[in-house]
Order: sequence, then C-alpha cells, then structure tokens
Amino acid sequence: MSHEVRGVVARSRNAPVTVETVHVPDPGPGEALVDVQACGVCHTDLHYRAGGINDEFPFLLGHEAAGVVAAVGEGVDTAAPGDFVILNWRAVCGRCRACQRGQPWYCFDTHNAAQPMTLDDGTALSPALGIGAFADKTLVAGGQCTKVDPAVAPEVAGLLGCGVMAGIGSAINTGQVSRGQSVAVIGCGGVGDAAIAGSVLAGATTVIGVDIDPRKLEWASNVGATHTVNAGESDPVEAIRELTDSFGADVVIDAVGRPETWQQAFFARDLAGTVVLVGVPTPDMKVPDLPLIEFFGRGGSLKSSWYGDCLPERDFPMLVDLHLQGRLPLEKFVSETIGLDDVEQAFEKMDHGDVLRSVVLF
Ligand SMILES: NC(=O)c1ccc[n+]([C@@H]2O[C@H](COP(=O)([O-])OP(=O)(O)OC[C@H]3O[C@@H](n4cnc5c(N)ncnc54)[C@H](O)[C@@H]3O)[C@@H](O)[C@H]2O)c1
Ligand SMILES: [Zn+2]
Ligand SMILES: [Zn+2]
Repeated sequence: MSHEVRGVVARSRNAPVTVETVHVPDPGPGEALVDVQACGVCHTDLHYRAGGINDEFPFLLGHEAAGVVAAVGEGVDTAAPGDFVILNWRAVCGRCRACQRGQPWYCFDTHNAAQPMTLDDGTALSPALGIGAFADKTLVAGGQCTKVDPAVAPEVAGLLGCGVMAGIGSAINTGQVSRGQSVAVIGCGGVGDAAIAGSVLAGATTVIGVDIDPRKLEWASNVGATHTVNAGESDPVEAIRELTDSFGADVVIDAVGRPETWQQAFFARDLAGTVVLVGVPTPDMKVPDLPLIEFFGRGGSLKSSWYGDCLPERDFPMLVDLHLQGRLPLEKFVSETIGLDDVEQAFEKMDHGDVLRSVVLF
C-alpha cells in the first residue's frame, strides 16, 4: 500500500517550490515509514532547488526532521512503531573501511530507503539528503531513525538532524574543544551559533563570534559568545588575537566556507591550534595561496567537518538530554514555526539573513 501525502517539491532549477501530492510506499525490508512532526528549513534545501547539489530533479525537499515511526519493514531492529525519532542523513553501514577501522562517523556507504517516493504520474522523487521530510510522511532506511526522549519539542529536536548537529559537532567532535580553551567562530548563522553553543558546552572560556551582520552578532551573544567581532568594521584576525592575549584562539571554526574566511581562520589560531572548516565551499573556490612555511611552522591541524563528525546514535540522545536539563538552549535556534505552504517564503527570509531557522510544523 502507499500513502498519499502533501510534500514540498523542487521541479526544476531555481523554480519556486510547489506543494504536491506525494505517494509514500509502506516500508520494505530495512525501511521505516515516519509521520513527520517538524522539519527545519536549511540552506542545503535551497542548494538542491538551485541545482547546486546535483541535477536529479524533481527533489522532495526537507531533511532536518523529527517525527514518530509509523511502521517498519522486515529486519529493522533499531526503531519500532511509536518511537519518537530524529532523522539522520548518515545511517552507517558497519562494514566499510571507515566503520571497520572504528571511525563510523566517516562511513563511506551510508544507507537510505530503497523504494522511491513518487508523484501522481509515477515520477520518482529524489529525497533531499535521502530524507525528504517536507511531507506528512516519509520513507527512510531504518538506521536513519534515531530514538530520543519524546519530552523534547519536535521543532527543536529536528534541528539536531542537520545544521545544529553540524555546528555543535564541529566544535566538540572535530575541533575537540575542551575546558578553558579559546574558540573563535567565523560566521554566526545557525551552524556557527551551534558551534558557539557547543564550545560553551565543552567548557571553552573565551568564545568569539565573528560576522559581518550586527543582528547575527547579537544572536551569537544570546547563545553564549563571550565576545563578538564585526568583520566588516575591523580585521577579524587582529581582533581575535587581541582577545586571546595576542596569541590567537586554540580552535577557529570557519562556518562560512570561503577562501578568505578560511585564511582568516588559519592566521587567527594560536601555534599548534586547530582550524575546522564546517561551512561548505562551492566547487570553484581554491585554498588560498599560503607560504608552505606558514603551514609547517605553525603546526597544529587543519580539518574539515562533515555533519559535525557525529554518530547520531551517540550524539542525538545525549544532546537532547542536555537540552532537557537546561544546559543546551536549542530553542533559541527556532526563529519561527511555519506551515508546509510557507517554505518558499522561508527560503527568502533565510537568504536575507532574517532567521536562524524556520521550522515547518505538521
Ligand atoms: N559541514 C556540514 O555538514 C554542514 C551542514 C549544514 C550546513 N553546512 C554549511 O554551513 C554553512 C553555514 O550554514 P548556516 O545555515 O549557518 O548559514 P547562514 O547563511 O545562516 O550563516 C552564514 C553566516 O556567515 C556570515 N558571513 C558571510 N560572509 C562572512 C564573512 N566574510 N565573514 C564573517 N561572516 C560572514 C553571514 O552573515 C551569516 O550570518 C553553509 O555553508 C552551510 O552549507 C555545513
Ligand atoms: Zn560504513
Ligand atoms: Zn541541512
């Protein structure tokens, strides 16, 4: 049997999204059918709509989601009907090279549902990040459902499924931020602010938010930045050094993902410090021209962070518990809750920097 639901579809490059009837099959082996309760609007959805990820239109957008498992197929033992879950876009395989060497967060063979969701005319949809959760129901691989405490608000929980996890993880997993350290975060959108909140959680005592938009700096302070720097008004490298006894920060996180911000991160860190690139560059961008001796002489490490190097089963329940205990203010990332028909408008607000996150509630 298949279920008829409403879903947000991107039909062609840069065309406004439309709400259409989507047919969602019952789960086959290894799959789970989920009643979506909330789904955040992320930049990656916009990248899909712009054709910036691949050309496999039509896309069923939405991937920062939480909901309740409606049914599972044969062989799914990680989720059961009635479970409140956050959907993840990296259901690890347990068998690839990365998994076998004990680093499953790098898994090279992550799973998605095998059956397609379709339009009325039978056209198969490409679900964004293998999720497609701007729809009343969606079909995913069983391992994409991560069970968490149902006491958390769905609009908050869903955000851990992508950008907020990427940001927190860039600090605590990739950057290995620890007690007493100094951290600078360049770019204070949803991802950067989550990196700030993650750094605070990990015990960093100096947390510097850098942005070119004063509204963003206010929000950065609101989630725990101890200092802010307007990079449009002063040189962020100098400013970060001044705030760290002229040494530079132990960890600098680039949550913009441009050559100039990465270069600022490179020079704004202390000797033997760490640079984490979590913002996603476009394919045409190049590593800045740097004297090789600067890389050699400064030591430390230059890392990138995919999905915050998270392990959903380890990290989602832990972060939800910290939030419920009042130690992680995830609710501050929800700027507004909207309906399924408002996604196109939410893209515009996101583009203008008016929101950290708009979240569709079902
Ligand atoms: N690595 C991952 O797994 C992952 C996951 C989700 C998102 N991302 C990426 O993270 C990045 C940030 O996402 P977001 O949702 O926070 O986006 P966003 O647009 O909300 O935030 C970007 C921020 O950077 C600021 N900015 C732009 N240019 C700047 C500059 N030169 N100096 C300082 N600040 C500047 C903007 O004012 C804005 O506040 C994007 O590239 C996104 O694709 C990565
Ligand atoms: Zn694997
Ligand atoms: Zn996302």
